[in-house]
Amino acid sequence: MRSAVMITGATRGIGRALVYAFARKGFDVAFCSGNEEDCLALLEELKERYPENRYFAKTCNVADEAQIKTFVKLAWETLGSLKILINNAGFGVFDAFTNITAEDWQRIFAVNFMGPVLLCEELIPLFLQNEGYPKGIVMNIGSFSVEKYVPGNIAYAASKGSLKTFSEDLFCEYRTRGICVTYVSLGSVNTGFSKRFSANADLKMTPLDVAEAVSSTAELMLGAKNLCISNLELRTTTPPEAPGVKE
Ligand SMILES: NC(=O)c1ccc[n+]([C@@H]2O[C@H](COP(=O)([O-])OP(=O)(O)OC[C@H]3O[C@@H](n4cnc5c(N)ncnc54)[C@H](OP(=O)(O)O)[C@@H]3O)[C@@H](O)[C@H]2O)c1
Repeated sequence: MRSAVMITGATRGIGRALVYAFARKGFDVAFCSGNEEDCLALLEELKERYPENRYFAKTCNVADEAQIKTFVKLAWETLGSLKILINNAGFGVFDAFTNITAEDWQRIFAVNFMGPVLLCEELIPLFLQNEGYPKGIVMNIGSFSVEKYVPGNIAYAASKGSLKTFSEDLFCEYRTRGICVTYVSLGSVNTGFSKRFSANADLKMTPLDVAEAVSSTAELMLGAKNLCISNLELRTTTPPEAPGVKE
């Protein structure tokens, strides 16, 4: 039976690569970003490249609960039962602690933390209606910056750290009910987002490789009986601090 996946933050970077990876593997794909034009352009590309799949594209700011509810409802009605949710949309404000405003903190937590929480609130009850095992898979895209101090990263790292704790507890709460939850910790990936940290693309993972690893992990869990990969950590082999590596 065909499976359908929902991917947030899908028009650029890792999200875009994820959409292509799942479409190439024959999944139906529901996706969103904050920009309507970009969503429609990606939809047209996909229909042309992989016409055998079904797609649902919609503008959805994951910081907005009403938009999330509409997006999930229409995606479920259009594609039928979704099996996988990938909470990929994310952004950061990178500055010294005292320069980060209360509004910055609220925006970062709204997108990077509350967005995934609200999407899970909408989708998990629907996943539980699915037949078979697993009934649903949630993959939350986090960051390796949670594990180490990076100057200027405090708000972003705190939001992804909260996402990590949420993912672990959600996994424990739902593992016996057929829902797998995976926290995906990423090192540096060559996207527009990571340019502020280093312009040297050669040192970073490619969005394509990351998307292949994430989609293959999802496929593995879909095909397994009693297996949930609760943590997936993807890291570059050439970090800037490696011997002989010059930025
Ligand atoms: N790149 C890295 O080195 C790296 C490392 C660790 C973790 N990550 C994580 O990986 C994820 C993807 O990052 P990326 O590097 O691919 O970023 P990116 O190139 O900036 O792409 C982000 C995507 O998310 C969408 N987006 C942003 N805010 C959104 C919102 N509120 N609602 C819906 N969509 C939204 C963007 O489209 P619009 O702006 O048009 O909405 C865009 O399609 C993020 O969660 C990021 O924290 C990235």
